[in-house]
Amino acid sequence: MEISGRTRVCCVIGDPIEHTLSPLMHNAAFKHLKLDLVYVAFRVRKEELENAVKGMCSLGIHGLNVTMPHKNAIIKYLDEVDSTAKFIGSVNTVLNNDGKLMGFNTDGLGALKALKENQVHLDGKKLLLLGAGGAARAIAFQLASEVEEIRILNRDGEKAKQLAKALREKFNRKIVGDTLSASNIKEQLKDADILVNATSVGMHPNSEQTLVNREWLKPNMAVMDIVYNPVETRLLRDAKSVGAKVVYGTEMLVFQGAASFEIWFNRPAPVEVMRKAVLRSINEVNVSVEGAS
Ligand code: ATR
Repeated sequence: MEISGRTRVCCVIGDPIEHTLSPLMHNAAFKHLKLDLVYVAFRVRKEELENAVKGMCSLGIHGLNVTMPHKNAIIKYLDEVDSTAKFIGSVNTVLNNDGKLMGFNTDGLGALKALKENQVHLDGKKLLLLGAGGAARAIAFQLASEVEEIRILNRDGEKAKQLAKALREKFNRKIVGDTLSASNIKEQLKDADILVNATSVGMHPNSEQTLVNREWLKPNMAVMDIVYNPVETRLLRDAKSVGAKVVYGTEMLVFQGAASFEIWFNRPAPVEVMRKAVLRSINEVNVSVEGAS
């Protein structure tokens, strides 16, 4: 596209930032819709966050994505934070509304859409959620009003218990938290309908790691992994091999990006274009990593 004096800017900030897929995903969307916009990535160190947010206002940057390590810290520099992001305690999307900065978190919505668009039914179902970090909090918050029951298992069991308690206070559902262990996962999987891995286990380069033994998975369940590199994690490969329905982490990535797009522009995001851009770039990254070794 042609960058002119009228071109508006969106960006992502984080540290490190060079591996982010957001610029590819959003620029593909802008190009497809012929929007006069460009999306760039800025490495912003912790101590520069406040200045970066002020800079966003000064420069009239329209939309911002936020990634590690700023997702929590940015909240104090924003004018408004929506109730979902407040509960989760983290913001991944900022809208610059004529100088008023509004914070949102689209991770949970991304997970919900990923499941629904892949025909995973939630009503009356039991969800087993692995992890209690930022992504897990977002997913649990979004799914709490959709499923019948949530069991949260986390390596740090206290975090799982606290999250479950906070969710119970807000939603009239059976939600329990406990420490993650092999026997716990095996036990809980006996009557779970949906399994979501919201930990980083299985992420490249540790792509053969999984918390779940293949024998514990059932054909009548759905399994989603938030890990998107590799696209098919060991967990999803195992789930597929027993006949379970699988939802790739790239789906959550694309739908959280689409939700950010919709907050910024108040129009539907071109999801298929964004999905293609993400899948193409992940394949390229893996080829270059393998080629280098
Ligand atoms: P994110 O924002 O992606 O959720 P995070 O907040 O750092 O990142 O959370 C990472 C999650 O992966 C946590 O649930 C973490 O468990 P702890 O809270 O006990 O640290 C989980 N995790 C990371 N490595 C793990 C491992 N090897 N085994 C089990 N859980 C792991």
